[in-house]
Amino acid sequence: MMIRTTLSAAGLAVMLMAAPLAQAVDADPAQALATKEGCLKCHALDKKKQAEPLKAIAKKLSGKPDAEAIVLKQITTGVKVKMEDGTEEEHKTIKTKDDAEIKNMIQWILSLK
Ligand code: HEC
Repeated sequence: MMIRTTLSAAGLAVMLMAAPLAQAVDADPAQALATKEGCLKCHALDKKKQAEPLKAIAKKLSGKPDAEAIVLKQITTGVKVKMEDGTEEEHKTIKTKDDAEIKNMIQWILSLK
């Protein structure tokens, strides 16, 4: 009985710690990376520049189970996009190779809605 109580308490502690960790977005480094990579030159947070604001994108993608994969593809594969002025070019691809940094930025973008 004693052992079982200890185990479940430990199990609960792990669950409580894991839940916020899985969702925590570190906004400052995410925004710093978006700035460094030039994302914010075309995407402002909430007003239209050369491209949709990040908040509008987050709203559009919210609820899609593959939202993270969509953003990742957008910033790693050089898909063709149309600017607000009508010109077409390949979408910016991200320079950093740090997966954790990229994932944090993607989750930050999706959290802006
Ligand atoms: C040269 C301008 C430019 C830069 C720089 C740029 N984007 Fe974009 N981005 C666009 C355009 C244009 C579109 C497509 C149309 C729109 O959203 O207005 C787009 C679309 C997107 C989308 C939407 C994908 C979808 O399925 O709707 C995401 C997410 C995105 N960009 C993220 C980023 C991130 C992150 C960066 C920085 C690594 C970045 N963009 C840099 C111009 C840019």
